[in-house]
Amino acid sequence: MCGIFAYLNYLTPKSRQEVLDLLVTGLKRLEYRGYDSTGVAIDSPDNKNIVMVKRTGKVKVLEEAIQEHFSGGEYSEPVLTHIGIAHTRWATHGVPCERNSHPHRSDEGNGFVVVHNGIITNYNDVKTFLSKRGYEFESDTDTEVFAKLVHHLWKTHPTYSFRELVEQAILQVEGAFAIAVKSKHFPGECVASRRSSPLLVGIKTKTRLATDHIPILYGKDDKKLNPDQDADSGKQQVLPRSESTSEFMPLEEKEVEYFFASDASAVIEHTNRVIYLEDDDVAAVRDGTLSIHRLKKSLDDPHAREITTLKMEIQQIMKGNYDYFMQKEIFEQPDSVVNTMRGRVRFDGNAIVLGGIKDYIPEIKRCRRLMLIGCGTSYHSAVATRQLLEELTELPVMVELASDFLDRNTPIFRDDVCFFISQSGETADTLMALRYCKQRGALIVGITNTVGSSICRESHCGVHINAGPEIGVASTKAYTSQFISLVMFALVMSEDRLSLQQRRLEILQALSKLADQIRAVLKLDSKVQELAKDLYQHKSLLIMGRGYNFATCLEGALKVKELTYMHSEGIMAGELKHGPLALVDDSMPVLMIVLRDPVYVKCMNALQQVTSRKGCPIIICEEGDEETQAFSSRHLEIPRTVDCLQGILTVIPMQLLSYHIAVLRGCDVDCPRNLAKSVTVE
Ligand code: G6P
Repeated sequence: MCGIFAYLNYLTPKSRQEVLDLLVTGLKRLEYRGYDSTGVAIDSPDNKNIVMVKRTGKVKVLEEAIQEHFSGGEYSEPVLTHIGIAHTRWATHGVPCERNSHPHRSDEGNGFVVVHNGIITNYNDVKTFLSKRGYEFESDTDTEVFAKLVHHLWKTHPTYSFRELVEQAILQVEGAFAIAVKSKHFPGECVASRRSSPLLVGIKTKTRLATDHIPILYGKDDKKLNPDQDADSGKQQVLPRSESTSEFMPLEEKEVEYFFASDASAVIEHTNRVIYLEDDDVAAVRDGTLSIHRLKKSLDDPHAREITTLKMEIQQIMKGNYDYFMQKEIFEQPDSVVNTMRGRVRFDGNAIVLGGIKDYIPEIKRCRRLMLIGCGTSYHSAVATRQLLEELTELPVMVELASDFLDRNTPIFRDDVCFFISQSGETADTLMALRYCKQRGALIVGITNTVGSSICRESHCGVHINAGPEIGVASTKAYTSQFISLVMFALVMSEDRLSLQQRRLEILQALSKLADQIRAVLKLDSKVQELAKDLYQHKSLLIMGRGYNFATCLEGALKVKELTYMHSEGIMAGELKHGPLALVDDSMPVLMIVLRDPVYVKCMNALQQVTSRKGCPIIICEEGDEETQAFSSRHLEIPRTVDCLQGILTVIPMQLLSYHIAVLRGCDVDCPRNLAKSVTVE
């Protein structure tokens, strides 16, 4: 949901062109977060102004505009210290167009420019307050009020530092946001902050840093502006000034480069040393020195923010030989599932250790029920594993879409255990649901892919799925890794149940073969591509199955919708005769999953119901199952595995099919229209 990138070089000569290259590359890495419009702001060659370039469309369009706009020799002169800010947008307020693109400015003179991710919910109140004071607005965005508010505070409080101005502005706004601000009145300085939207600071120095911690400095105030105050009274509104105290020295380096970014993939090619900012942290760089401030001290605050060393490799965020990130991520699954199990599953001793939750297992075993909560694909991983969790934990398991769960004000109790499943760890609905459950005393378990994400940090315990960075907007390898993480949890919960040992053994053996079986399924790629050629001009695709494969139907249909813009529906085969059968005729494309498991006979009934209405389904079935294959000329054979893991093997042909249909329809596979990977707004 919008990507923020800012770069500050201090005593590190870089030409403006180099700075712009860095900004554009940073935006490209964040493009999956939103891609309807983009923009950058840098200093003008005479250092007296800020110049901005904005474009509707993807970063590529901005890149071309930059080449045109900044080609003069003055842009190749090295500058010792400089700050550039950049943004890629996923529109929430105002249609995608240059006028609504970030950075937004405070005034015609570009005194303060802001990039923002999230939503300022009280922007109308702030707008009214500022309009009364003569500010005119030029965009439909909520962001613009922030730039103008900082400007207003600067005019009314001329002695305030840049950081104090931004802090005061933050006190007046509500909602979820991450922001970075640049000002022509404060050259060489950058201030950034977050509340509920992710933001990190990357630090690059020539020598090793003198410290691993950045101390936290505190202010003391929390006073709101009064929007109804008479704008013409001539009275200056008195805002209390924050006073900083600290027993530490802030980080100070001679030559240093700072990167502010919505996520680590945008900084990893420059540095692996980052600080993940917490909600309401205000990070400010002045004279090359980074300091982190908080407005109020709370009892459980740590003294400092730790500098984390990223484990990510640059290759992980590059496309390599693949045409699209999604394609690469589908083909990475033999490895990513192994990485999810690495160090956790001991196939020789049939033991499983989940380090992140092992201390909580006794408490979880005593719970009233398990709640699995997520959105989109993450929700489907909960649907996929619910049956096994019920079987191996013998607990009631509720599976919830985070948005609906919140709408219903679902009753939650202290003895509930709530799992929050999220690839990004930042999805607003999931995060809100987490906070709702935490307030009510439930145990919070995070299942996330992104180390350092909000869900990760706000959970009591959890499992990192370790799938590696997922960049394609449509989730693929994160799904199979979430699936396996939940299967591992079910196995841990049943470790001491004698009656379940045979079943556990069967699942463990199947897990050990999974990577090779995924490789075998991926070999179906060209066959799937042929099927895609039959399907891509149709308007709709129905995907039917039941039992352990119902989740594959939902997830397959979601992939088709997301990527191809075709209508697709995942249908529980048991519901076929209660409505969906009316859709079936000789021209409606249907895909059915019919595997040799306890619901095989019921699936065969559904298959016959479809074929007797002249339907000609594509069947996903087991290798060598001629009896089932006899019902259709088009089938995909997958290797046999234990029933509860079938969903991992059946979802892969669906991922490939949606990918190929999208390519044939000329869709942008990695950046489907209207979508974004990390949805940080409710
Ligand atoms: C967005 C993405 C989906 C994803 C969902 C939940 O809608 O486009 O691919 O499944 O968010 O995201 P999360 O990061 O919480 O798994």
